[in-house]
Amino acid sequence: MEKLVINGGTRLKGEVTISGAKNAAVAILPATLLLNGVYTISNVPNISDVKITCDILQDLGAKINWITPNELTIDTRDIDGKEAPLDKTSKFRASYYLIGSMLGRSGQIEVGLPGGCNLGARPIDQHIKGFELLGAKVDVGQGKISAKAKKLVGTSIYLDVVSVGATINIMLASVLAEGTTTIDNAAKEPHIVDVANFLNTMGADIRGAGTDVIKINGVKELKHEGSYSVVPDQIEAGTFMLAAIATKGDILIKNCISEHLDCITAKILEIGGDVEDFGDSIRVSINKRPTKANIKTLPYPGFPTDMQPQMGVVLSIADGVSVINESIWESRFQYTNELINMGAHITAQGKTAVFEGVKELYGAPVYASDLRAGAALLIAGILAKGTTELYNIDHIDRGYEKIEEKFRSLGANITRVTEE
Ligand code: EPZ
Repeated sequence: MEKLVINGGTRLKGEVTISGAKNAAVAILPATLLLNGVYTISNVPNISDVKITCDILQDLGAKINWITPNELTIDTRDIDGKEAPLDKTSKFRASYYLIGSMLGRSGQIEVGLPGGCNLGARPIDQHIKGFELLGAKVDVGQGKISAKAKKLVGTSIYLDVVSVGATINIMLASVLAEGTTTIDNAAKEPHIVDVANFLNTMGADIRGAGTDVIKINGVKELKHEGSYSVVPDQIEAGTFMLAAIATKGDILIKNCISEHLDCITAKILEIGGDVEDFGDSIRVSINKRPTKANIKTLPYPGFPTDMQPQMGVVLSIADGVSVINESIWESRFQYTNELINMGAHITAQGKTAVFEGVKELYGAPVYASDLRAGAALLIAGILAKGTTELYNIDHIDRGYEKIEEKFRSLGANITRVTEE
């Protein structure tokens, strides 16, 4: 088992380059199933969720060749598989994109139920609602989902909840449907726009991605294989922004799209930080103790739920009492127990947590419960006095590329240790 050993008390300073977006890449790769062809995808984050996606696509018959650690070719001309086994699909959430892609390609797929971070209930009823409205028959049982459709016909779909996954999955399933599909109450995250952009380069006709109404005019066939570069990861960029604030540091975050970070920037300014926006890079610094703030997580462009644990670390050492309301996930405050072990004063109850800021955190053995909690605890270890041992770091490796190298380049004292 691996752990990260962090000797704290560091103010992070320097430059860091952001990788491609996990939540775009894990949808763009399955999207290549919609047209037989050879694609070159660049700015791909070299993370375990992407590697599992590639494994599953290879099981279906795709040929994948890594040209560099962040660029690959994928050949989808000989796809013969019709099922993706549970032992792989259960390892992460985005395996459900195989359903939308394969329904669009062949009208048939059987996929093990998706896994993903333990954030409470993670229903997929809106995905299924979309597939069924398009004309598919979907059965869920014995740990798998099977979907079949003789023909997919465009229709209007109103999402009962704003869902990133359902929005992307319905786009994937409807690009080759007969007629027009409208997704109302669609999610607007940057990674949704990126997937729509990629599908349009393939010859799809998708309009309105990034707004809450997306129109997909079905086409008889997609026409263009080709190359594409994945959008920079909004959440990784935000993670380093808040790491600068938490450690009273000064970081230039490069290869990002600053407008995707507006909500995080606004909060940083509110609590006393400084932000210099250069468009494709952003510099974040603070030279005093941050002040308190209240946070409510919301779908984009609101404060991202995937930035909530990282903000929790900042508010743990802020001056005053802060409140976080987690409106997206049932159970995303598990990390607060670990912060309490480091000296934080936090009361978490259901979807609300109250943070009474303390002056100092102290190193301790802590356990990552999910991907973003892991990143948050890593930041806490860097600011804390003394040594922190961070366990269950496989969670972090799912979504952050070279996490300790990037933080070490900013001055952090971090070592990855393998324990028998
Ligand atoms: C995506 O998950 C991200 N994962 C999550 O990031 C992120 O937290 C989430 O979007 C919200 O931004 C990937 O993109 C792989 P949702 P997803 O469908 O698509 C409810 C990370 O750290 N809902 O937008 O699974 C759901 O319970 C991960 O990178 C339904 O009720 O999230 C939740 O309350 C963690 N029925 C809300 O909608 C459905 O059919 C938003 O979920 C689908 C969702």
